[in-house]
Amino acid sequence: MYHNPVMLQESLEGLSLREGGTYADLTFGGGGHSRAILSALKGGRLIALDQDPEAHAHAPLDDRLTMVHGNFRYITQYLRYLKAIPLDGILADLGISSHQIDEGRRGFSTRTDARLDMRMDPQMTSDAARVVNEYTVEALEAVFRNYGELPSARKLSASIIRIRAERPIATTGDLVLAVKPFTPSGQEHKFLAQVFQALRIAVNDEIEALKEMLLQVPSLLKPGGRLVVIAYHSLEDRLVKHFMRSGNFEDKPEADFYGNRSLPFRLITRKAVVPTAQEITRNNRARSARLRVAERI
Ligand SMILES: C[S@@+](CC[C@H](N)C(=O)[O-])C[C@H]1O[C@@H](n2cnc3c(N)ncnc32)[C@H](O)[C@@H]1O
Repeated sequence: MYHNPVMLQESLEGLSLREGGTYADLTFGGGGHSRAILSALKGGRLIALDQDPEAHAHAPLDDRLTMVHGNFRYITQYLRYLKAIPLDGILADLGISSHQIDEGRRGFSTRTDARLDMRMDPQMTSDAARVVNEYTVEALEAVFRNYGELPSARKLSASIIRIRAERPIATTGDLVLAVKPFTPSGQEHKFLAQVFQALRIAVNDEIEALKEMLLQVPSLLKPGGRLVVIAYHSLEDRLVKHFMRSGNFEDKPEADFYGNRSLPFRLITRKAVVPTAQEITRNNRARSARLRVAERI
C-alpha cells in the first residue's frame, strides 16, 4: 500500500464539505484523503498537489480532480493559474508518505543502505549528502537539535565533521555507522528515526515551506472556508497552532489603534485532535499525528 491515510474521518469532518465547493489537498501522497474528499463531495472541484512525481501515478480518474506537481509553498501561483481562488477548504497532511520511507533507494529509510538522497522532489538540487558533507558544524548541530530534538546534537555534528574530513559520508549505511556511538542504549530505532527525520526536514526545507504556505492561506479561503492541518512534529504543530490562533508564528494577534484584535480564523479545534488507540494499533505511523482545524472569518 502506498500510504495508509491518517485521521481520515476527522479530516473530512474538519473540512465540512460544501456541495459544489472547491478544495485543495496540498499533500496528495497516496491519495487516501483526496479519494475520500471526492467520494463525499457533491459536484465541486479538487486541486491536489504533491512535490513527489511518484505520488502522481496513483491519481484516480475523476473529472473534478486536477493534479499539480509542485511545492505547496507556491500554492497561490498554481491556484491562480487554475482559476481556483477562493477555496472552500484546504487540507495539508504534512511530512512524508509510507511509500517514500519504504522505497529504500530514496534514502529516507534507516533500514536500507542507499545514496544519501532524501529529496521529496528529485528536481531539487540539494540532497542529504550535501547537508551531511557540506554544512558547517554549527548548521549541522542546529539541524539535529531543532528538527531531530536530539540532546546529543553537538557531539553528533562534531563526530560527522571528523569522519567526513577523512572520506565523504555517501550512503545511509555510512551515516548509520557514523552516529552509532551516540545511540542511547535500547533506543536504536527511535534515535536513528530522529537523525533521519532531522536531515529530511533540512533537505526539503520543510519548516520554511510550511510557513510560506500558511501565510498564503487567509487570502485563499472564502469566509467560512476551512483549513485542516495534520502535523507529525512538535515544531510544525506549534507553528500551525500559533498561526491558526493569531495569524502569525509569534502568537501575537495584530491589534488596531483602539486595541481591537484582527484574527484571520475562528478555531474549530481548541486542542489538537489525536488518533484513536484503535487507529494507532492499525497504523503505527499515525502515532505522532496532531490535527487542527480553523475556519476563515
Ligand atoms: C503524509 S503524506 C500525505 C498522505 C496523503 N494524505 C494520503 O492520504 O495518502 C505527505 C505527502 O506530502 C508531500 N509533501 C510534503 N511536503 C510538501 C510540499 N511542501 N509541497 C508539496 N508536497 C509536499 C510528500 O511528498 C508526501 O507525498
